[in-house]
Amino acid sequence: MARPPSRARGLRYSGTVKAVRIGLLGVGTVGAAVAKAIATRGDVLARASRATLVVQRAAVRDPAKERGLSLDRVTTDPLEVVRADDVDVVVELLGGEEPAFGLMKEAIERGKPVVTANKRVVSWHGPELHDLAARKGVELRYEAAVGGGIPLLAPLADDLAANRLLELRAIINGTTNYILTQMAGGSSFQDALARAQKLGYAEADPSDDVDAVDAADKLAILVRIAFGVSCTPKEIFREGVRALDPIDLAYGREMGYALKLLAIARRGEGGIEARVHPAFLPADHPLARVDGARNAVHLLGDLCGPVMFSGLGAGGDATASAVLADLTHVARRLALGDPVEPPRPGHTGLPVLPMDEVRARSYLRLSVDDVPGVFAQITHVLAELGIGLASVIQREPVSGQADVVLMTYAAREAALREAQRRLAALPTTRSVRARIRVEESRT
Ligand code: NAP
Ligand code: HSE
Repeated sequence: MARPPSRARGLRYSGTVKAVRIGLLGVGTVGAAVAKAIATRGDVLARASRATLVVQRAAVRDPAKERGLSLDRVTTDPLEVVRADDVDVVVELLGGEEPAFGLMKEAIERGKPVVTANKRVVSWHGPELHDLAARKGVELRYEAAVGGGIPLLAPLADDLAANRLLELRAIINGTTNYILTQMAGGSSFQDALARAQKLGYAEADPSDDVDAVDAADKLAILVRIAFGVSCTPKEIFREGVRALDPIDLAYGREMGYALKLLAIARRGEGGIEARVHPAFLPADHPLARVDGARNAVHLLGDLCGPVMFSGLGAGGDATASAVLADLTHVARRLALGDPVEPPRPGHTGLPVLPMDEVRARSYLRLSVDDVPGVFAQITHVLAELGIGLASVIQREPVSGQADVVLMTYAAREAALREAQRRLAALPTTRSVRARIRVEESRT
C-alpha cells in the first residue's frame, strides 16, 4: 500500500534535503564500496532517502593504505567516530566480535541508529542489541549480514509475515559455494580458496567460511526472523567443507546430485531443525543451479508455497547495496521525523531440535577389501540399525581394494552416525571415506 503523505501525519516534509552524517567504521571491501557509492550516486540515494548522505568521519586500522577514494576526518580510533557530535548514524563494517559489539552498544546508548553487516555480532548478540535499541528508541538494521546484496531480512519480516514458514534451505556462504563450484570444475580446494580470498569473498579468517562458522551465524539470524525462535549459533549443528573430496562430487553427479553447503531450518515435531553441512541436492532443484559466489534462500511458506531469493551473497558492491538500503531507510526516517517502529512481539518458545533427531538420507563411501562377504556385512549393520539401503555402486577393484558407495533411505542422524562407526569397525572396511547427507527435492 502507498505510504500516506507526511503532511497527513502532521509532518511538514517539503522536499528539502537534509544532510544525514555517517560515522563509517571500517573502509575495507564493504566500507570502501559504501563510501564510493555515496560519493558517486548521491542523486539516487537522495531520491530514496529524502536526505543527503555524507560520510562525516571514518575509522580504519591503517590510514596510509590506498583505498581508491578520498575521505576527510579519518582516524584509527573508532570510538572517537561513534562519540562525535557531528555523527548521526553509525555504520559498522569492521567485522569480528570486538571491538565491533562494544562500539555498536556505545552508539545505541548515545541514541544513534546503527547499520551493520556484522553477522558474528548480530548472531550472538542481536537480542541484547535489539533490547537496548528498543529502550533507546533507535534503529538497528543489518540486511547485509545475510545474503550480501539479496534483499532478504526485510521481505522475511514484512512481506512474508502472514505465513507460517515450514522450511528454509539456503546457500548463504559465497566463499564455500565458489569453492565447491570450482572443485566441481576440477580445481583443487586450496586454489579455489585462494581465488575466493582474492575476490574479496572470504572472511578475514577464511576458516570461518570453510568450517561453516559464517553460515551458522547467518542461519541463526534467519531462524530468529523466519521462525520466531530464540537461537544462537551454539544451537546449530555445523560441519564444513574442508574434508570434501572431488571424488564424491563426481559420484554425486553420476547419481543426479549437486553438492552444496546448505543451511537448513525446518519445522519438525515440537521444534525447529537448524543445521549447516554439505548436502547432496537433486540436480533439478533450483538451489543446485546456484553457482559461484551467488547465494540463494529457498523457502516454503504455508500460504505462499515455494519462494526463492537469489543473488550475489558476497563482494563489496553487492553488500554495499544492502548496507545502503538500510542507510536510506534510516536517513528517510530521520529526514521525515518518522518514529522508530516499536519492537515486534518476542519469540514463539519453540526449541531448536537436537541434531540426533533429524532424519535424512545419507550417502556413504567406503573403501573395502575385495573379498567375499563384504556386502553381507554392510547390509547386516544397516539392517540392525533399521536403515534401508536405496542403492549401491561398486567400481572394479584396484590392488585388492574397492570403493563402495551406498545411498540410504531417510534415517535418524543418531542411527546413521552409529552405522558409520560400525561400518568403519568391520574387518573388511579399510576406511569410511565420506558420509554426506542428502536432501530431497520437496519434503
Ligand atoms: P575488511 O575488508 O577486512 O575491512 C575491515 C575494515 O575495518 C578495514 O578498513 C580495516 O582497516 C577496518 N578495521 C578493522 N578493525 C579495526 C579497528 N579495530 N579499528 C579501526 N579499523 C578497523 O572486511 P569486509 O570484507 O569489508 O567486511 C566488513 C564486514 O562486512 C564484516 O562484518 C563482514 O563479515 C561483513 N560482510 C562482508 C562481505 C564481503 O563480501 N566482504 C559480505 C557481507 C558481509 P584497514 O583497512 O586499515 O585494515
Ligand atoms: N565470507 C562471506 C561469504 C561474506 O563468503 O559469504 C559474505 O557474508
